[in-house]
Amino acid sequence: MADLLDRALVERRLRTRYLGRNLLYLDTTSSTQDVARAEAERGGPVGTAVLAEEQTAGRGRLGRAWVSPAGKNIYVTLVMRPPAPKLRVLSIVSPLAIAEALEGIGLAPRLKWPNDVLVGGRKIAGILIETELSGDAVKYALVGIGLNVNFDVEATPEIADIATSVRRELGRDASREELLAALLNAFEARYEQALEGDAVFQAWRSRLETLGRRVRATLGERVEEGVAEDVDAEGNLLVRRDDGSLAVVEAGDVTLSA
Ligand code: BTN
Repeated sequence: MADLLDRALVERRLRTRYLGRNLLYLDTTSSTQDVARAEAERGGPVGTAVLAEEQTAGRGRLGRAWVSPAGKNIYVTLVMRPPAPKLRVLSIVSPLAIAEALEGIGLAPRLKWPNDVLVGGRKIAGILIETELSGDAVKYALVGIGLNVNFDVEATPEIADIATSVRRELGRDASREELLAALLNAFEARYEQALEGDAVFQAWRSRLETLGRRVRATLGERVEEGVAEDVDAEGNLLVRRDDGSLAVVEAGDVTLSA
């Protein structure tokens, strides 16, 4: 029987005004994205957090699955409603908040563009952002975060080489409650800051492992290869091709070369 999350402990550690204050805690669900979407459609408040112990159909970016065993990790979706011109801040704030929560327990995470969180070169957390627009306005954005906490990744051969968990990195179990509260606290603080200025952008940029590396960026049929030179103010990746021209990559998947 897996350990259940102590919800009261999360609430005691929360320092947020709205994020996670409406917390829906589920034992098992298909995907927290689906539950959060229904909540958002019903007009659920900004900052609603849907958390599950287990997902039976957890999804990742680009149609991939997200391995979601019971009682080990954090699977949470946040309902946000940023102004449309600020939608991109979610892709910056989310990995940064995860990184800051992990730094708080002594890890040294790096970010892989667009928004993976790595420790020791392996993925410890992933983010899936689904947006619903109404004309030009944002109806809601669903920020899905999967963070491997006490997961025995090495016992899961299909991802053992590419994924890690807090437990693997620290050599001991960690408190999911502490991490979740730290993540929500950092997320709200950074989100509010990001709506104001660009300090958050710099904090995100400085943790990007991708910069200066040779990359292969794919988005559907489009493939860009070269050196990831920088990110622009919108968070797009700037790839210097071998012929010297510059490619602006807005989204997609990036493979790092040595
Ligand atoms: C990725 O790196 O591909 C994104 C993974 C996102 C996983 C989280 S877990 C909570 C939320 N519910 C889902 O089904 N997916 C996201």
